[in-house]
Amino acid sequence: MIYERVTEELKERFREAWAVAVLTGAGVSAESGVPTFRGGGGAAVWRGMPVEKIATPEMWRADPVTFWQWYAYRREVIGRAEPNAAHRAIAAWERRFERLTVITQNVDGLHQRAGSRNVLELHGSLWRVRCPQCGVKMEDRRVPLPEIPPRCPSCGGILRPDVVLFGEAVPEAVFSQAVAATATCDLFLVVGTSAIVYPAAALPVLAKQNRAFVIEVNPETTPVTEIADVTILGRAGEVLPRLSPEGNGGG
Ligand code: OAD
Repeated sequence: MIYERVTEELKERFREAWAVAVLTGAGVSAESGVPTFRGGGGAAVWRGMPVEKIATPEMWRADPVTFWQWYAYRREVIGRAEPNAAHRAIAAWERRFERLTVITQNVDGLHQRAGSRNVLELHGSLWRVRCPQCGVKMEDRRVPLPEIPPRCPSCGGILRPDVVLFGEAVPEAVFSQAVAATATCDLFLVVGTSAIVYPAAALPVLAKQNRAFVIEVNPETTPVTEIADVTILGRAGEVLPRLSPEGNGGG
């Protein structure tokens, strides 16, 4: 069913939930000024190149300068961004439910900055780098980067962001935790994702198969709309605080 607003019935569902999992995508950070990959009729392009071509292991190997210029640009945009009302509402829910798991496809770290602690980063983090040559992995929050491409302090190899690039698999350990949280929740929210990139896109179906109530929040319909119990058409920063009136500023 498609709703234009949060109803009393939905608030009641929310009040009664015990174990909640929230799958988020780029749309949850849109109101923080972080561009989405899709939606609004367009696909992401940077300097005339589709992002699907840049953010790949092939580009990292063939042209690490262009590859890292794109990531340096993303680090600048995301480094300036602040968590929005949607991130804050989700963070507050951690205190409210017996169990709350955030499963995010975002690499921006904004859920954690808003205060969420139980976050599964399916696609890694922009704020970590690793060296494929010697295996070193470390946090790296430098904006701007001192050199492009950045090099490993241990062996001098070219670093890469610790993110899942196009064509790469989601790390198994984090995905199996996401599956466990999804299969055992009674309320599953799908927020700001076009829900077409696998394996994340399989999670709402799994939630439904395990009898969770599935609520989607997105200004547009997606493939999840067909299986969701309710799709609330709206922006995450406006809709999420309304699901939990107390402490989140709105009814
Ligand atoms: P997309 O860019 O594919 O989809 C963003 C979704 O957010 C769209 O459905 C929009 O309608 C919706 N949206 C836009 N503004 C919103 C708002 N204010 N509130 C709620 N929703 C809003 O982003 P993802 O689904 O996250 O992977 O994309 C999945 C993956 O595709 C990304 O993690 C990335 C990309 O390939 C990798 O980089 C591996």
